[in-house]
Amino acid sequence: MIYFDNSSTSFPKAPGIQKALDEYINNYPFNISRGNYRASYTLEEKVYNVRESIKAFFNASETSNVVFTSGVTASLNTFIRGFHKQGDHVLVSPMEHNAVMRPLEAMRKDGIITYTVIDKDDIFTGNIKKYIKPNTTSLIVNHASNVTGDVIDINALGVEAKRYGLAFAVDSAQSAGEINIDARNIDFLAFTAHKGILSLQGVGGAVISKGVETRIKPLVFGGTGSRSSSFEMPDFLPDKFEAGTGNIPGIIALGEGINYINTVTLDRIHDHKIALRDEFIKGVSEIDNFEVVSLQNNDFVGVVSLIHKNKDLAEISNSLDRDFNICTRVGLHCAPLLHMTLGTFEKGGTLRFSFSYFNTSSEVKECILALKTLA
Ligand SMILES: Cc1ncc(COP(=O)(O)O)c(C=O)c1O
Repeated sequence: MIYFDNSSTSFPKAPGIQKALDEYINNYPFNISRGNYRASYTLEEKVYNVRESIKAFFNASETSNVVFTSGVTASLNTFIRGFHKQGDHVLVSPMEHNAVMRPLEAMRKDGIITYTVIDKDDIFTGNIKKYIKPNTTSLIVNHASNVTGDVIDINALGVEAKRYGLAFAVDSAQSAGEINIDARNIDFLAFTAHKGILSLQGVGGAVISKGVETRIKPLVFGGTGSRSSSFEMPDFLPDKFEAGTGNIPGIIALGEGINYINTVTLDRIHDHKIALRDEFIKGVSEIDNFEVVSLQNNDFVGVVSLIHKNKDLAEISNSLDRDFNICTRVGLHCAPLLHMTLGTFEKGGTLRFSFSYFNTSSEVKECILALKTLA
């Protein structure tokens, strides 16, 4: 099987995860912050070590700024629902996933917030000033598009957001594990384990800038194993946003993913994926009627989307699977907003190929041959 659906979830997962989970199941499948025995403390230390490696990975200022959640969707809901107040105005990029658009739209419908989508030319040049109103309180951007691979310059936008006093939130679902991200320029960085970090589904988190946590209400309330005499949530990080038992095996797997990426290095991963992307695009350019869609031409992650002048993309995707054993995804990819900008919304979206560090040039060649046959 050739797996080109890594934007959805990565395959294969990082080497090391299986062994770490085997050890977890056999030796310490306990709870943390809730047991007064050494085996629980050992596990607590392992979870703390993962928190530390994420701190280093994203250059966070303190280990406690790293909060574990079930992934980017849960993290972004925490920020969107917990930070914004009645009357706030929010700015977003045109590349937002429904993990941003749906909570925003729900709050808009409830009459709590309004939002504005920044034009594609302005988001890539950092020109946000003209969108800012007296009640604008935040800027939320998807670092890398899960449809086209387009990358937004979050360092430049972070500076602009700071200049205008906006809280800056970043969705790193498609960039973490491929591009270096410096959390010190970001107020709320949402990350997930199961894509670029090569780990498991249902775990991820947020890096919350010091002081910003005081402006965010938790989404979920409950036991934390700390300040148990109070009916109120602790006001400190990470406990404020970690009610209930966390996904401990997921966190252990996440740590293995980070270790593996650190060993290979982000540069090598990114270079490899971009080489595959470039080779794929060159191959596709030699086939009639396919077109690559994107918002800009400079900066990408290893994701690419195609449209075809007259063929049905779902049929192509099905044939790739059934006749050539190549896994792709077709449709809107949970990002209708971007398709409205690309002009691909009415036609039902794009055919997406998303590469991993484990994919090879010969797999790309095989896919190009398959597309030639199908086209
Ligand atoms: C850009 C983007 N944001 C958010 C998500 C959701 O992430 P998670 O699966 O961690 O909730 C995805 C994944 O589908 C994505 O591609």
